[in-house]
Amino acid sequence: MGSSSGGGGGGKKKYSTFRNRQRASLSFFIVVMFFSVFGLIVFTEIFFIDERGRAAGVVLRRGSLTIQRKRDKSSDYDDGFQSEDYISIRVGAAMMNDDALGALLMGGRPPVALPVIERSAPSPPKVFAENQLPPYPENATVNEGGWQNVNNTRYKFFVFSAFYDDRKGQRIIRVIGATKTRGAERVWCRLWYKTGDSNSTGHVSVTVPAKFKVIRENWNLKYSACFVMCPLTNKTIPGAVSVVAKVRDPPANLLLVINNRNETGGIPAGTDTSQHKFGVCVKPLHFDYNRALQIVEFVEFNRILGVEHFTFYNHTIGDQVNCLLKDYADKGLVTVLPWSLNMVSQKEIRTEGLFAALNDCLYRSMYKYSHLLLIDLDEFILPKFNDTLSQMMSHLSRRLNSRTHGSYSFQNGFFYLQFDDDDSIFDFDDPVAANLITLRKTRRKTKLHPHKQRSKYICRPELTIEAGNHFVWEFIPGHGTLNVPSDTAILHHYRICEFGGDDCIKDSSTVDRTAYRFKDDLVQAVRSTYYRNKGKCALPELVLPSGKVLNKLMHFLKPNANR
Ligand SMILES: *[C@@H]1O[C@H](CO)[C@@H](O)[C@H](O)[C@H]1NC(C)=O
Ligand SMILES: *[C@@H]1O[C@H](CO)[C@@H](O)[C@H](O)[C@H]1NC(C)=O
Ligand SMILES: *[C@@H]1O[C@H](CO)[C@@H](O)[C@H](O)[C@H]1NC(C)=O
Ligand SMILES: *[C@@H]1O[C@H](CO)[C@@H](O)[C@H](O)[C@H]1NC(C)=O
Ligand SMILES: *[C@@H]1O[C@H](CO)[C@@H](O)[C@H](O)[C@H]1NC(C)=O
Ligand SMILES: *[C@@H]1O[C@H](CO)[C@@H](O)[C@H](O)[C@H]1NC(C)=O
Ligand SMILES: *[C@@H]1O[C@H](CO)[C@@H](O)[C@H](O)[C@H]1NC(C)=O
Repeated sequence: MGSSSGGGGGGKKKYSTFRNRQRASLSFFIVVMFFSVFGLIVFTEIFFIDERGRAAGVVLRRGSLTIQRKRDKSSDYDDGFQSEDYISIRVGAAMMNDDALGALLMGGRPPVALPVIERSAPSPPKVFAENQLPPYPENATVNEGGWQNVNNTRYKFFVFSAFYDDRKGQRIIRVIGATKTRGAERVWCRLWYKTGDSNSTGHVSVTVPAKFKVIRENWNLKYSACFVMCPLTNKTIPGAVSVVAKVRDPPANLLLVINNRNETGGIPAGTDTSQHKFGVCVKPLHFDYNRALQIVEFVEFNRILGVEHFTFYNHTIGDQVNCLLKDYADKGLVTVLPWSLNMVSQKEIRTEGLFAALNDCLYRSMYKYSHLLLIDLDEFILPKFNDTLSQMMSHLSRRLNSRTHGSYSFQNGFFYLQFDDDDSIFDFDDPVAANLITLRKTRRKTKLHPHKQRSKYICRPELTIEAGNHFVWEFIPGHGTLNVPSDTAILHHYRICEFGGDDCIKDSSTVDRTAYRFKDDLVQAVRSTYYRNKGKCALPELVLPSGKVLNKLMHFLKPNANR
C-alpha cells in the first residue's frame, strides 16, 4: 500500500520530473535556438562591418536569409570604378519586423536608415500648434527641381524635388533627397496649403513626421540618394512642401509639389502604338561635358526611334552643349535641370548622386510618358527589325504577352571604340555620316552581357517605384521585368575597353550593322540640327576622319577588301 502509494507518488514525481526535464530541455532548446539565431545575426553584422571599409555594396532586402558574395566585374560604371565585391544580404522578414531586425543587425543601435528599411519619426507629440511654427518661407523661390539645403542637421541633407504619389494604396508627397546612407536624421515635412481666402497669398501648414527610405544603389558610400515621404492627412494635395530637421526650424527649402496625374489617370502601354509616349532620362552631365556631335547624334537617333522628350541634369556643361541644349529646350524637346549637389562625387556619393537624378526623372515623367529609357549618351537601344520603339513594344506585348511588365531589359553589347571603323565610312564623302559613332563602329563583342549586368531598360514609370542604373529595384506589386530577347533588340554601347588597355578587342567580335537601317534619316537629322546651330553655338566644322585618304588606300590594298 505504502509501496503502491509510494510507487504512485514516485510515478507522479517521476512524471513531473520528466515534465520538468522536458520543460527544461525545451527551454534549453529555445535558448540554444535564440543564441544560434543571435550568433548568426552577430556574425552577419561583423561581416557587414568588415566589408564596410572595403567599398562593398551592401544591399538589404526582404526575403530569406542568404548571404551571397560575388565578384561583379561587370558592375563598373564606366568612369574608373571597377570590380568590387558585391554583397547582398537577404533577411527573413517573417520572424520580426524591419525595425527589430534593424536593431539586431545594428547591434542594438537605433534602427535607422539601413537600406530599404522604412521608418517614421515617432508620432508627433502634439506639443506644437501649426500657427505657432515658423511661417511659409515667402522669400524662398518655389523650386520644381534644384538642390536645396535642410538646415540644422548634423550631416549633409539636401532635397531636390517633390511629387504627389498615390500608388500602393497610400497618399504621400515623395521628396527626392540625398543624405547619410546610415543613420540619417529624422526630419519633418511642412506641407503648405494656400489659404481659402482668394485675396490672400497666405499659406497654412500641416506638419507631419517624414518616413525615410534610402535608395538601394549606394555603393556603400557615406551619402546616398533617398526618398523622404510625407503622408497626407486629408484629401487636398498641398501646393508645396518644406523639409525641416526640427519642427521649429525656419524652413530653408521650398519644393513645388509636382502632380502629373489627372482624372483620366494612366497612359496605356498595350499594343496601340498611338498611345505610346517615350521619354529619355540621362544621368547628370559632368566634367564640363561638351561633345556637341555626340549629344546631337544621341537626341536625333532617339527621336527617330520615337522618343518625344529628354531630361538632362546640369552638373557642369561646356559652352557648345549648353547652347545646343538650350536650342532643344526652346523647342520643348529637352528639359535641363540644375544639378549642383554639394557632395564629393565618388568619395561621398556615387557619380554626382545619379540615383537621385534617375528617380527624379522617373517621378517627373510619370503620367506624361508611357515608357522611359534610362540610358547614357554612349548607349542606344536599337530594335533589330522594327523601325520604332513603339512598334517594338507592341510586338513584345503581342508576342510575349508583356502588357503587365513594368520594365523591359536589354542586354549590353560593347562596340569598343578601339575596333576599326566600318568599311563603308571610307566611301562616305559626307563628314556628318563619317563622324557618327553609330555608323563608324559596327564591330561589337560577340558575347552579350547577361541581363542585369550592364543591361539598360525601358520602364513604365507608373508601375515603377525605385529605379536603378541597370534594372528596376522596386515595382508596384504584381509587376516585373521582361528580359527582351536579343533578336528583338539589344543595348548598343559605344566605349573604350572597360578594364583599360586595348585587350578587349581581342575578344571574339561580330559586325552588327543594325544602325545602318536608320542611316539616311539619322544623317539628315543630325546634319540639319548641327548646321542650324553651328554659327550660334560656335560648333567646330566637321571634317572627314583624318588620314581618310591613306586609310582608303590601305582599305583597297587589304586582301579582303571586297567592296
Ligand atoms: C522677405 O524679403 C523682404 C525684402 O527682401 C523682407 O522685407 C522680408 O522681411 C522677408 N521676409 C521674410 C519672411 O524673411
Ligand atoms: C478681397 O478683395 C476684395 C476686393 O479687393 C475685397 O472687397 C474683399 O473684402 C476681400 N476679401 C477678404 C476676405 O479680404
Ligand atoms: C486639408 O488641410 C488643409 C490644411 O489644413 C486645408 O487647407 C484643406 O482645406 C483640407 N482639405 C480638406 C478636404 O479637408
Ligand atoms: C540655413 O543655413 C544657412 C547656412 O547655415 C543660412 O545661411 C540660412 O540663413 C539658413 N536658413 C534658414 C531659413 O534658417
Ligand atoms: C490627362 O491624361 C490623358 C492621358 O495621358 C491625356 O490625354 C490628357 O490630355 C490629360 N488631360 C489633362 C487635362 O491634362
Ligand atoms: C548649366 O548650368 C550653368 C551654371 O549654372 C548655366 O550657366 C547654364 O546655362 C546651364 N545650362 C543649361 C543648358 O541649362
Ligand atoms: C517588329 O519586329 C518583329 C520581329 O522582331 C516583327 O515580327 C514585327 O512584325 C515587327 N513589327 C513591325 C510593326 O514592324
